[in-house]
This record gives sequence, structure tokens and C-alpha cells, in this order.
Amino acid sequence: MLSSVHWLWLVLWLHLTSLEDVEAQFPIPCTRQEALDSRTCCPLWNGSPCGEMAGRGDCAQHFLEGADLPFDYRVDWPNSFYDKVCACYGNFDGFDCGVCSPGWQGPDCLEPHRVDRKEITDMTEDERELFISNLDHAKHTISNRYKILTSNDTTKAGNFKFHEATVYDLYVWLHYYAAKKYADTDDDAAHRGPAFPFWHRIFLLFIEREIRLLTGNHNFFIPYWDWTRTDHCNICTNDYFGAVDPDGHIDQGSRFSKWKVRSPSCSFLNASFLLFRKPGKDRSADTLPTSGDVRRTLCEDNYDTPPFNKMSKHSFRSRLEGFDIPRDSRNLQSAMHNLVHDYFNGTMSHLPTAANDPLFMVHHSFVDKLLEVWLERHRYASYPESDEIHKAQKKESYMAPFFPLRTNGYYWNRNILSLGYKYIEHSIPHPGAVHIGEVYHQIQWLWPVVGVACVVLLCVIVGVAIKCKGEKKTS
Ligand SMILES: *[C@@H]1O[C@H](CO)[C@@H](O)[C@H](O)[C@H]1NC(C)=O
Ligand SMILES: *[C@@H]1O[C@H](CO)[C@@H](O)[C@H](O)[C@H]1NC(C)=O
Ligand SMILES: *[C@@H]1O[C@H](CO)[C@@H](O)[C@H](O)[C@H]1NC(C)=O
Repeated sequence: MLSSVHWLWLVLWLHLTSLEDVEAQFPIPCTRQEALDSRTCCPLWNGSPCGEMAGRGDCAQHFLEGADLPFDYRVDWPNSFYDKVCACYGNFDGFDCGVCSPGWQGPDCLEPHRVDRKEITDMTEDERELFISNLDHAKHTISNRYKILTSNDTTKAGNFKFHEATVYDLYVWLHYYAAKKYADTDDDAAHRGPAFPFWHRIFLLFIEREIRLLTGNHNFFIPYWDWTRTDHCNICTNDYFGAVDPDGHIDQGSRFSKWKVRSPSCSFLNASFLLFRKPGKDRSADTLPTSGDVRRTLCEDNYDTPPFNKMSKHSFRSRLEGFDIPRDSRNLQSAMHNLVHDYFNGTMSHLPTAANDPLFMVHHSFVDKLLEVWLERHRYASYPESDEIHKAQKKESYMAPFFPLRTNGYYWNRNILSLGYKYIEHSIPHPGAVHIGEVYHQIQWLWPVVGVACVVLLCVIVGVAIKCKGEKKTS
């Protein structure tokens, strides 16, 4: 832990270094001058702030200790901008309490809603085509709900500039924003710590919702890509995310060949380059993780361990994220989640740009599936609490930059069914999956039994029918 003197230096230094551009995504009504001046982000829903009159939520003051404006606006989210934001009741959700929480639908958000996330190669052609065209639509349509903020100095409100962005680019931006390192450290709000899998779970739910609202396809879902089933990118074809040439350019026959990469290195919105990937071409990451890697990861009984960052050992989170690297003949420099990013040797391989590649979401959907398997097996575990955890990833810290406010610990005891989705197992049993094999054997010996039972039943029915006929004749 840093001493208070260290903190003082840190804050001083960050004030001096925070003059570069800083950004976030904001609900459009909260980007207006009066919202900024009054430090209030409580948009109207049906005529009242946060749908107060309809009993959806209220415009709540949030108090935080040490009321100084944070040196980095992600810390103590959203204290840098607003004192009041919407707090939604019941199943209401969203920055204005105008939408339903994941898992609910209907005018009063009382009807359950659930989607099944399938393995991407298990989707029918129609499902896959719809998925890809919904993504493409999101990439090319300006969001009417959010804007992006750019500013060169968060301590001077007047320097804010808000920009329109497409729905998909908002999502890219959000990841870039959360993944930016805090100036002093190797840490960020969404990686290298206990919040990693939960932040990404909420991130996927965010884009799922925005795409549903945009397209009206309420059952839009993000499939998962089980990379343990293949030794190469089996979805790098024009049917999926695009074939690539030796230079990493995406084939013209794929819609993704026209996708512009949003990157902080050249003013985020003025994209000048395209998606690229060279799967397996990075010598230090020329292979995908195996089912053995997954098994070892799931065997880790501690959710996370000190120092709760990339140095953590015997930590499920650190193994899943890919910092705890198996020492074997593969000579890997990264593992699991990180290895898949590195494997692509392109847009996917750098934190600030990774989410530009649509492969990101199917990869993270599988990572999310693994999180759920682990949580199911470790119901007694809890979100770690320690002074060693970075401030942004503490259990009680609000996840930046989501509205309404939710702490990192909020989602721990909420399983995915309560969030409106579940994972469907791959249609072909995995050669390495013991439990699926067992079920298969049970079914194998079950068939003869079912067959015999059917024959017996048929004989009884025929017998009864003959007897009835006989009785009818005699009566
Ligand atoms: C930040 O932007 C404002 C307005 O565009 C400008 O006046 C100011 O000089 C800039 N500050 C720095 C440190 O670049
Ligand atoms: C992008 O470039 C255009 C024209 O060169 C410029 O007007 C605009 O301000 C730039 N946008 C950003 C976010 O820098
Ligand atoms: C791709 O792999 C090469 C060779 O290992 C490496 O030098 C390069 O930095 C990688 N590029 C990206 C974008 O990951």
C-alpha cells in the first residue's frame, strides 16, 4: 500500500501529467451545459427525471469519502462529473431508468427475458447472417443515446468536447477508456485485477442492449467461440469474421474488410486504418489455448490472490486472464485469454484497439462462460477485499463508466440466468469433456431399455384393444 506521502506525490504528478486528452462516453442529455453546470445526470424519462413519477427511479445524490475531484475521472466514478445520477428501482435500468435490467422485458419490466448464447459455429446460416448484419449496422449507425467526450484537461470543465459516435464505436471507446493505464501504474479499471471478468461481462451486456435497441432484434445475442476445439482460427473465413491474406488484410468478400479501426494513437474518431490480423504469425503466440489449459484454470480454487494483479499466482482470475503461464514445451509468453489476443497478431493484440475486431466479443463470451463454470463450482467464494486491490477494482468501487452506478461486487452473486442469458453447450461433445461423455454413455445404455419398454407398452395397448373389440361384439 502507498503511504499518504506517496499518494500526495502521485496526485501532484498526475495533475501535471493529466493534461493530455481524456475521454469517456456519456448519455447525450448529460452532455448539455446545464447538466454539467448542475453536476446532475438525471435525464427525463416520460417527463420526469429518472422516470420518478412512474416509480422507475430517482435522482440520487451519491456521497463519496474525500470529496476532492479525482485526478483521473475513472477513479471514484462518476465523481469528476456528477453529484447526482439516476438510481433505478426493481427491474428498471439504464441512465434514465428507461430500460429493463438484463433478464427482463415488457412495459413494466416484469416479464422474464432470456437468450441462449450458442457456440458460433453452431449457429444456423440465418442466425449467423443476422448476427453479422446487426454488427455491421451498429458499426455504421450513430448512437442516439450516447456521445463521446474528449477533453485535454479534466480539471477544467470548459474544455469538454462531445462527439457523436456509432453504436459499435462507443463500445470500442468504452474498452479503450477502461483499459487505459492509470498514469502511475500498470493498472487499469478492467484488467489485471479481480474486476477483469466481471467488467467484461457487463461490457458485453452493454453492447448487446445497445444493438437490441438499435435494431429492434430483442433476441440479439453474442455467441461464444470455443477456441479449445480448433488449432487455428476456424472462424477467419468470409462466412464469419473474414478470411485474411498473408499481410493480414481482410478479404474484400467480407463486410469487415471495410471496418475502420478507432484508435487513440490517431485522434480516436478520425480512423485511417483498417482491421488486420495474422492468426498464428506471432512466434511467441502461435497456438491457441487447449482444453487442458481450461481444465487447469478451472481447477484453481482461489478466485484471486495477493497482490491481485498480473503477479498473482494460484488465482483463477489470473490464470483465466492469462498471466499465470504454464511452463511447458510450448514456451508461451502468455496464456488463456491473453494468448488468444496475442495469437491474432493484429488489431486484437493491443489493449486500446482490441475491441475494434468483432472477434473480441465472441472470444470474451467464451471467457465469460468459463467464469460462470467456475462460479457454479465455487458458490462459497466471494469477491476479494484487500488494501492491495487497485482502487478502481475494489469491491465497493463503482465500475467505470457504466450508468446507473454498480459496484464491482454487485454482480458476484448474480448468476447469468438472472442476467437474462445462458450458455448452450456445443452440439458435438468435446473429446476431452468427461461429464458430457458420461451423459453420452448413459444415453447409449438407455436406448435398449427404452426400446423394450415401448414394445411392452405396444403389446399391452394392442391386447386391450382386441379385448375391447371382443367385448363390444358380445354385448
Ligand atoms: C485545452 O483545450 C482548450 C480549449 O480547446 C485550450 O484553450 C487549452 O489551451 C488546451 N489546454 C492544453 C493544455 O492543451
Ligand atoms: C477529425 O478531422 C476533421 C477534419 O480533419 C476535424 O475537423 C475533426 O475535428 C477531427 N476530429 C477529431 C475528433 O479530432
Ligand atoms: C506480430 O508478430 C511479430 C512476430 O512475432 C511481432 O514482432 C509483432 O509485434 C506482432 N504484431 C502485433 C500487432 O502483435
